[in-house]
Amino acid sequence: MKLTYHGHSCVLLETGGHRLLFDPFLSGNEQAVVKPEEVRCDHILLTHGHDDHIGDTAAIAKANNATIIANFEIASFFGDQGLTTHGMYHGGAHTFPFGRVKFTIAHHGSSYSGPNGRIALGNPAGILVTAEGKTVYHAGDTGLFLDMKLIGELDPIDLAILPIGDNFTMGPEDAVRAADYLETRAVLPVHYNTWPIIEADVDDFCRHLHSKGVQGHPLKPGESIDL
Ligand code: NI
Ligand code: MN
Repeated sequence: MKLTYHGHSCVLLETGGHRLLFDPFLSGNEQAVVKPEEVRCDHILLTHGHDDHIGDTAAIAKANNATIIANFEIASFFGDQGLTTHGMYHGGAHTFPFGRVKFTIAHHGSSYSGPNGRIALGNPAGILVTAEGKTVYHAGDTGLFLDMKLIGELDPIDLAILPIGDNFTMGPEDAVRAADYLETRAVLPVHYNTWPIIEADVDDFCRHLHSKGVQGHPLKPGESIDL
């Protein structure tokens, strides 16, 4: 399994010949080194409706004939546009050709700036993907919550993708605690340094993780790791 970071919360997971793209915010993200038209994927997984997560979903889904996996409201929103979707919700799991996806809670919002103003797109989620015997947890945008202990207990986590930028999500201190609650082996820090309001010291974050016996992967946009 190979993971490539595309900046902000956008991650590409390659597993068993499949390409899963999370939260493809590329247009308008000055940190992104890949253009939406360059991305190849067969599934797009969305944690919530905010513009910095839905991003280029419609264009990429259309160009790749990709299936959008998201909460029911987001799935319906894109389904109404003629795109292929699969709706899910918190606590629900489904086995896809590439592996198992489970939706978890996240404490955040999920509105979207549609053409006729801001619309509600259900509730935000975290997403667990289990494939090739590995489990990756994309926490989406969220604050720290105690149920992360339950999430880690139900599905032992190999890599947790955690926001650390503060203000809209957990900051670094709470994200270190999240890694502890999840009992994850490693963390990919995301959702930081995209704008001044979410600047974070990622090296300091990884030092704190390391002191707890957790590996930090401070990837720059365009960089990859093998899991
Ligand atoms: Ni958000
Ligand atoms: Mn966000």
